[in-house]
Amino acid sequence: MKILAFETSCDETSCAVIEDGRKILSNIISTQVPIHKKFGGVVPEIASRHHIEDVLPVAIEALTEASCDWKDIDAVAVTEGPGLVGALLVGVAAAKAAAWALDKPLIGVNHMEGHIFANFLQNPDLEPPFLALVVSGGHTMLVVVRDYNTFELLGETRDDAVGEAFDKIARIMGYPYPGGPHIDRLAKQGNPHAIPFPTPLHKEHSFDFSFSGLKSAVINYLHTKEMKKETVSNEDVAASFQYTVVNTLVTKAMEAMEKTKLTTIVLAGGVAANSGLREELKKECDKRNFRMSYPDSILCTDNGAMIGCRAYYMAQIGDYANLTLNANPRLPLRGIK
Ligand code: KG4
Ligand code: ZN
Repeated sequence: MKILAFETSCDETSCAVIEDGRKILSNIISTQVPIHKKFGGVVPEIASRHHIEDVLPVAIEALTEASCDWKDIDAVAVTEGPGLVGALLVGVAAAKAAAWALDKPLIGVNHMEGHIFANFLQNPDLEPPFLALVVSGGHTMLVVVRDYNTFELLGETRDDAVGEAFDKIARIMGYPYPGGPHIDRLAKQGNPHAIPFPTPLHKEHSFDFSFSGLKSAVINYLHTKEMKKETVSNEDVAASFQYTVVNTLVTKAMEAMEKTKLTTIVLAGGVAANSGLREELKKECDKRNFRMSYPDSILCTDNGAMIGCRAYYMAQIGDYANLTLNANPRLPLRGIK
């Protein structure tokens, strides 16, 4: 089964052709990062306009690279939400047009479920059940993946998403959008124990996260240093901030593993590319003999391949959409109200 999958939820226009769920025949990503960089973040209206310009050429390139024609496609998938409504609408309109013209089924996919499913593309032998630590620019969640179509939300952020905190702090330090990779790079050269930032929600026995207090503490530290005209080591700030974030995420993830008695954990979302997070989670998993998976960096970012993979497993249970499919910027995970 060949699925043509569209992803336009934020600032990447992506189309992929996926065969039988796990084989990537093509995965074309046209990034708008250079365009949004000068604004310090994604400008929704500009993102939508660029998706309109790019979506068809990207789809054609995906088909060409997969050595496919439109008629070889068995189903069309698209990110339905969550994301920027205008951006999502472009992908949804394109996918509906393709499904209608080809007379093939349409599948509406949850973007966050797609991020989790990127792990199936990475590891052909990975099977549910497992725990997913989902860390992106818009979300921070611990999700139990019971089977391919049943998810349970254990906890999520009460305020900022972890990627949002990375981006904001990097911006204040003078680095361009997206800031996460800059913090990651700087952190490697700094001392993680140089500045004791507060650990978020560390005494609370819940699986929820909160990053706004930590974000404010880092910003206050930078502003105070600036007012006092004291020099700041960006490397130490980045390392101390990243250490605090990673420590919080990994501690909660290990508590969740203990509670659920699962033995496999996967990382998902843009922040899953963070080297400190990967290393620390791996170390803690090795101590406990847990299996750990994370996607290659290209599959951590927003991409059509992960949407096609998710769609395949929805098709297995006949979970199709119809031409009334609409973008839903707040789409919850399956089975979660
Ligand atoms: O999943 P994603 O591509 O978009 C959303 O669905 O939100 O995630 C983007 C986020 C940005 O906040 C970006 O700064 C962050 O992922 N990111 C990183 C790294 N690479 C990307 N954060 C920390 N370390 C990285 N290496
Ligand atoms: Zn994403």
